[in-house]
Amino acid sequence: MESLSFIETSMEDKIGFITLNRPKQYNALNRQMIHEIVTAAEAFDRDPNVRVILLSGNGQAFSAGADIDEMAEEGAVQMELRNQFADWDRLSLIKKPIIGAVKGYVLGGGFELALSCDLLIAGSDTRFSFPEVTLGVMPGAGGTQRLTKLVGKTKALEWILTAERIDAETALQYGIINRITEPENVLMEAREMAEKIAAQAPLAVRLIKESVHKAVDYSLYEGMQYERKNFYMLFASEDQKEGMQAFAEKRKPNFRGR
Ligand code: HXC
Repeated sequence: MESLSFIETSMEDKIGFITLNRPKQYNALNRQMIHEIVTAAEAFDRDPNVRVILLSGNGQAFSAGADIDEMAEEGAVQMELRNQFADWDRLSLIKKPIIGAVKGYVLGGGFELALSCDLLIAGSDTRFSFPEVTLGVMPGAGGTQRLTKLVGKTKALEWILTAERIDAETALQYGIINRITEPENVLMEAREMAEKIAAQAPLAVRLIKESVHKAVDYSLYEGMQYERKNFYMLFASEDQKEGMQAFAEKRKPNFRGR
């Protein structure tokens, strides 16, 4: 396992693991840490041996949000000139599915990081919240946008304006997470899901992720056109031939990602 300053990474069974590793500060996210997370995700995205990325946190919490000590010193002009959220933008360009395995506190920027994942497995002890308003600021890495698109304006406004903590059951009910499990089983459940996806045809997985994400931004008509082109494109892959031949021969397909 390679030990970087604020994260750990490893690879096993076609899964690339990224683990936030600042447990004493509840994995509070400083700029360097976000940079490391995104750089690791991009490396896994390019690695043909990796099919799914699994993001989790060491310690009791997934992440208590942006590092407040670092943020306290920020200035508007400096953030604009630095392009503060450039790393976050790169995260949304990752093509492979990212599964988040979360537990404990998932706050502020930590919640935004979780919302940047494609699938979320949460421990029953998970508490999601946007506490930014209590600090005199607001979410800045997609919180007001992603949560609203996910749950609608009514609940997004309530939760972001009050900083109320959302429990795992409520998050499940509103479609924020995919599954709840015991906190100690979060990683195992996420891994099981990752293995299922890793066994599918990688190009199909890639284009499915892309197409579903487009549904959030596009009109139905544009989205249907986009889906269709991706559907056609998969017929240029060897895996399409392999998948359909394996069906005819009543055997398991051997997908190679091309
Ligand atoms: C920096 C943090 C931190 C954070 C916790 N710590 N959260 N440090 N930034 N976001 C540190 C504490 O200072 C403390 O360090 C140690 O972690 C343990 O925290 P405690 O408060 O002592 O623990 P506890 O009483 O159990 O409370 C846990 C907590 C609380 C509820 C998570 O720490 C808390 O409310 N944290 C802030 C959460 C928050 O407001 N997040 C949103 C940030 S704004 P020491 O050294 O004292 O032991 C944001 C904007 C995103 O995310 C913008 C886009 C990226």
